[in-house]
Amino acid sequence: MVEVALSRPSREPVPLPFDGEGLAFGLPTRRATVRLARRLGAALAPGDLILLTGALGAGKTFFVRALARSRGVAGPVTSPSFSLVHHLEGGDLPLIHADLYRLGDPEEVHHLGLRELRDDAAMLVEWGGPHHEDLGGGGIELILSLDAVHGRVASLRPLDDAGRWPHIARALRRAHAR
Ligand SMILES: Nc1ncnc2c1ncn2[C@@H]1O[C@H](COP(=O)(O)OP(=O)(O)O)[C@@H](O)[C@H]1O
Ligand SMILES: [Mg+2]
Repeated sequence: MVEVALSRPSREPVPLPFDGEGLAFGLPTRRATVRLARRLGAALAPGDLILLTGALGAGKTFFVRALARSRGVAGPVTSPSFSLVHHLEGGDLPLIHADLYRLGDPEEVHHLGLRELRDDAAMLVEWGGPHHEDLGGGGIELILSLDAVHGRVASLRPLDDAGRWPHIARALRRAHAR
């Protein structure tokens, strides 16, 4: 008798090979994204910077919402595309959620005071790439992309220097080993 495995899409992030220093995970379901976001969230501390990049609809805001929920933020977590900066309060870690897509002039980052806010909060910035230096540099790039095989793929890598990457990478890997 031939058994046909009707495998369900994974609720776990699926580790994928990554070229160079970094980690990649397939995210075939929303649940898998929530779990990855929760694991990253658990490892974050004030001063951390995550630059989120990915096409419209790739899941950047969804990821930030899941991360914020996991740290106890109960209020709405929506796209900051118009107000640019949201303070996500009520959790056990102050979180800043920004979307700099519409920001043209680098001077504007100074006006927003994001670099200073970073001292006391973990900062999650959509489309922050061009403003990386003005945000204080360092941190981690998280790219979310749509993928024909895995549905979605998240890849994470340290920017500039390793910084807190070893700690964060360990947390993401260890969570998976469990
Ligand atoms: N595996 C997944 N991970 C994240 N989002 C997913 C996934 N599968 C489906 N979605 C849906 O994709 C959409 C992503 O939207 P959003 O987070 O606003 O994207 P972005 O902020 O990148 O433009 C949400 O409606 C979400 O429910
Ligand atoms: Mg968004």
